[in-house]
Amino acid sequence: MKEKQITVLGLGYIGLPTSIVLAKAGHNVKGYDPNEEVIKTLNSGKIHIVENNLQKVYTEVVEAGKFKAYAEIQPSDVYIICVPTPFKKNNENEKIADLSYVESAAKTVGKVVKEGDLVILESTVPPLTTKLVTEIVEKESGLSREKFHSVHCPERVLPGRILYELEHNDRIIGSQKRESAELAKELYDTFVKEGTCYITDDITAEMCKLIENTYRDVNIALANELSIICDKLGIDVFNLIELANKHPRVNILKPRSWRRRTLFGNRSMVYCRKV
Ligand SMILES: NC(=O)c1ccc[n+]([C@@H]2O[C@H](COP(=O)([O-])OP(=O)(O)OC[C@H]3O[C@@H](n4cnc5c(N)ncnc54)[C@H](O)[C@@H]3O)[C@@H](O)[C@H]2O)c1
Repeated sequence: MKEKQITVLGLGYIGLPTSIVLAKAGHNVKGYDPNEEVIKTLNSGKIHIVENNLQKVYTEVVEAGKFKAYAEIQPSDVYIICVPTPFKKNNENEKIADLSYVESAAKTVGKVVKEGDLVILESTVPPLTTKLVTEIVEKESGLSREKFHSVHCPERVLPGRILYELEHNDRIIGSQKRESAELAKELYDTFVKEGTCYITDDITAEMCKLIENTYRDVNIALANELSIICDKLGIDVFNLIELANKHPRVNILKPRSWRRRTLFGNRSMVYCRKV
């Protein structure tokens, strides 16, 4: 694939490393973030997040002229949205996703997108959010959705291993249009060197990310609950899990091998390591 002009919206734990691997793969990357402090730090040659090996590769791509950070949106051929999606409470006091950052980023893309451009949503979102982004870009730009490409490609990295995982993890790429997903796959294939990019529709991609997170949450909670019960019974949770995992269809997560005193006295808690 020819090198692309890419604007990444949101230069945090996902957007900055993604910008850097794209720049390392030869693309010309313009990072956009409304936080001026972030832009000032990045353009002084320093990164503002803590991540293994990232500063070294950042310096290389900046020196190669492949990355620059901006406080205003820059026109490109590809736009990648990596903005926060925290929880907020609705009127019934239930937790729901706060999509205001995604909506605002989609409006920003709508101001500069042109015919043939690729818009990729990487943030973790509820089902149908990619459709919402498409509608906002369409409305803001006046371009019909047939004239640009809209794709969801959720992120799966683990902080501390982000650079490694960006190049090694399999990715799910979803779109309403097969042609759009294939275009995005061509781009991701330039830096996902050891993983495979799988194509599906955008709603399946959104649900896929949510069920991955749910699966991990449930299994981490299970291991933590087990450790509390083992504490009460005075048995070794590590030994128990090792024995239970001898079952051919059981794979309980292994808790982190450190303990701390709780507020309730000397009882130890075991916190689960992501594995
Ligand atoms: N951090 C992780 O380990 C991880 C892993 C997988 C998925 N995700 C998902 O990736 C998304 C981004 O998470 P993150 O950890 O990078 O967040 P972050 O808070 O580290 O960074 C987000 C950045 O977006 C910027 N921003 C806010 N509004 C913006 C806008 N309208 N336009 C452009 N930039 C804007 C913020 O200033 C900030 O610098 C979230 O949906 C998160 O759930 C995160």
